[in-house]
Order: sequence, then structure tokens, then C-alpha cells
Amino acid sequence: MQVYLNGQFTSRDKASVSIIDRGFVFGDGIYEVIRVVDGRMFRLEAHLVRMDRGLKGLGIPFTAQQRNELDGVMETLIEENNLQKGEGTIYLQITRGAALPRTHAFPPSDTPPTVMIMASPFVPDTEILEKGGHAITVPDIRWSRCDLKTVNLLPNVMAAQEEKKRNAGGVLMIRDGFVTEGYKNNVFAVFDGTLQTYPDSPYILSGITRDVVFEIAKEEGIPLKMAPIEEKEILKADEVMLTGTITDIQPVVSVDGHRIGMGRPGPVARLLQKGLRHRMDSE
Ligand SMILES: Cc1ncc(COP(=O)(O)O)c(C=O)c1O
Repeated sequence: MQVYLNGQFTSRDKASVSIIDRGFVFGDGIYEVIRVVDGRMFRLEAHLVRMDRGLKGLGIPFTAQQRNELDGVMETLIEENNLQKGEGTIYLQITRGAALPRTHAFPPSDTPPTVMIMASPFVPDTEILEKGGHAITVPDIRWSRCDLKTVNLLPNVMAAQEEKKRNAGGVLMIRDGFVTEGYKNNVFAVFDGTLQTYPDSPYILSGITRDVVFEIAKEEGIPLKMAPIEEKEILKADEVMLTGTITDIQPVVSVDGHRIGMGRPGPVARLLQKGLRHRMDSE
């Protein structure tokens, strides 16, 4: 696998970062995951806008020239890794760079950020997309800037491990009695034909796929309500689903053992799946 690290293309096993990199030492950085379909990056600009917002939010200096170079780098990685056909993902990470002494406050502003990008084949989980998943709830123990896509992912790692341990298919995180999002996806529910999701807030990441869902809902005339859903209310939803770049639109057919709707993927989830697939294949 060919990867990109700080201006160079190299094989993955030869690429290494410094032990004093602030991404390694402090989790001081941001990342993006971009879907690649038949060599095309889906909603690339939206990902780069979110990346910019994250860099700005963390105060990591990144010039327009550095940003403009990313497009070409990603195109090259797609070619070098034979992703012109089929499904793939790009992983992009930018940290505040390597600096000593190890002090929490920012290093000098001329410290070069560490930029790492890799492109890999991706296999969507077609079974769970078709049948839906049995989700669990876990407390949302994250910080109050979940709108920044930082590499500080320990609460997400713990949530994913809980999902694995309990052989579940999806996690809903609960903060103050409300469903915020999943550890790698946003959560939507359908009540009497209206789609509902957590509003833009520092407690969730505004997903690129979530925006696509808004678009499809508008096009299809599905009413949308931006309001937090209570943990006990979501059990009464007609449909629940998770949305994300590597999740696509995954129906949830039970939550903590309580059946959702008819216990199978519903018509709104199917419509949204179709709309997302169409966009990924045609844009
Ligand atoms: C916590 C969290 N919420 C939501 C999402 C979905 O965002 P997107 O649709 O941009 O992939 C992700 C994606 O990784 C995520 O990590």
C-alpha cells in the first residue's frame, strides 16, 4: 500500500512518525474519512470544509497552499492503490506536528503539522444494511466539542468494544437522557413519517452523510425535525437508522432488546439508502 506522509509518497511499512508527534502524545489532531466510489471521492469538498473547521477549531496552522495540494495527493493515492474501480476509503490525518519539550500548550507556530493520508479498499457490510442491526445504548462520555473530528477517540473506541463484546449492530450514545449519535455515525428516527435527528450542536459531529439525508428528505418531501430524541422515546419510533461515510444508511431493528417498529428495516430507511447509493454512483 502506498501512503502519503509529510510531502512524500512511500509504502505503508516504511512510513513512520516521530515519537514526539503531538498526535501520538496528546491526540492533538484531526482526521477525515472520505468514501471513494469507482475512483471518485464522494462529497470531497464537504469533507475539506469540515477539515478546515477542525483545524481552525484546534488552532492548527495550515496554509491554503497546503490545503490545495491535498486533492492531487488523494488522486494519486487512488491510482497507486488501484481504487479506480469499486469501493474504497481515504483516511486523512493532520496533527499539530512533532515538538519538544513535551508541554501541553501549543509549540511555536512554525512547527510543521504532520499530514498523513492513506487509501484502502472498502467492503460495505451488505448484510447489516439489508437486515438492520440490533443496537445498544451506552453513556456518551465524550467532551463538549464533538463537532470537531479529532483523533481523541477513546470514548468511541470503548463504545465500539462494548458493541463487539455484546455482539450488537450499532450503538446509540446517551447524554442527559437524549440520544446524541453513534460512535462513528449519526442517528435518525422516524415518528409518524417525520425524520428526526439531533440538531447541529457541539455534542455531535455534523456528518456529511447526515447532510445527504437532509437533501434526500427534502427532495422526497419527508418532513424533518431537528430536535434531540429522548432515550425512552426512541423505543417508540417507527424506524431508527445510523448514517455515516462507512456506515451508509444502516437500519436499526432493535435497541437494547426492544423491537423498533415492525422489527425490520422500514420504508424511509430503504428510500434513503436508494437515494444515497444513487448519489454515490452518479456524482
Ligand atoms: C462520531 C461520529 N458521528 C458521525 C459520523 C458520521 O459522519 P460522516 O457522515 O461525515 O461520515 C462520524 C463519522 O466518522 C463520527 O465519527
